[in-house]
Amino acid sequence: MRLACHLWLLAIQSEFEPEPNLAHPPISSLAGTDVDPAVVGRSPVALEIDDVSRVFVGKSQSLVALANVTLDVGPGEFISLVGPSGCGKTTLLNIVAGLMTASSGEVRFEGSLMTDPRDEIGLMFQTPTLFPWRSAVRNISLPLEIRKETGFDWDSRIAEVLDLVGLRGFEDHYPRELSGGMQQRVALCRLLVSDPHLMLLDEPFGALDEFTRENLNAELARISEHENKTTLFVTHNIGEAVFLSDRVAVMGSRPGRILEVVDVPLERPRTPSVRSGQEYTDVTNYIRNILGLG
Ligand SMILES: Nc1ncnc2c1ncn2[C@@H]1O[C@H](COP(=O)(O)OP(=O)(O)OP(=O)(O)O)[C@@H](O)[C@H]1O
Ligand SMILES: [Mg+2]
Repeated sequence: MRLACHLWLLAIQSEFEPEPNLAHPPISSLAGTDVDPAVVGRSPVALEIDDVSRVFVGKSQSLVALANVTLDVGPGEFISLVGPSGCGKTTLLNIVAGLMTASSGEVRFEGSLMTDPRDEIGLMFQTPTLFPWRSAVRNISLPLEIRKETGFDWDSRIAEVLDLVGLRGFEDHYPRELSGGMQQRVALCRLLVSDPHLMLLDEPFGALDEFTRENLNAELARISEHENKTTLFVTHNIGEAVFLSDRVAVMGSRPGRILEVVDVPLERPRTPSVRSGQEYTDVTNYIRNILGLG
């Protein structure tokens, strides 16, 4: 968790530094914003996971957490990783994030080898990990402060992401004054605010009730269609994976590996009514079968 420690230290430091200059040029200069990949000739593959294995060496025995995982993710593509507990989803996400090294194999993002955490990769976890002494807006601005971002207007970008998740009006609320779902919305804003090229989400809605989870699924689908981010999303929930994804990588355990990558042929934009359609049911059942859930 090098990045987390790094962010924590930087966040503490930033508490003692003067307020950042919020006057910046327009948001359109944010990296990646309003850029058509076809125009700049980006590679058809944004993220390449190439034959990645990870072994944890213990005192008495070693554990193969991941074996020969290969997966290409296209620019703007949304891929979910589903599979049983312990099949290596978080391990794979940590390797992609540059937080953990692979025992063998390589991860390349936008053509270059991932060896360390990078600014253009945004992470979100099951718990919102907000700073309780900072208001919602000051939690959201944290990555901009840490990176001392210049080149765009922070206020308008923050207003834009607050609008995306429907949190306008709650800017000055502290985490304790927000529900669990609202706290995850703040965490989502914090992820989006610096316009990452790649979003890595590890069961971000796993701790929420079914109703809030489905609402946030619909919001994330809308946001991901609007922002067109390359996304790797970890979940135990097959319905959530199908609803959100272009493809679902179904994983198995012992050793952790990809069993099959399933296309999700549902049209976009995705609205909650998708869940009552036959195609949704068919894909969901297909994935359940791969996982031996019948
Ligand atoms: N740092 C570590 N040291 C030793 N073993 C580890 C470590 N991290 C993970 N493991 C082991 O690797 C395997 C995969 O763990 P991982 O956390 O990636 O699973 P997961 O699919 O994310 O599970 P869950 O769905 O419960 O979150 C597990 O057997 C776990 O015990
Ligand atoms: Mg996990």
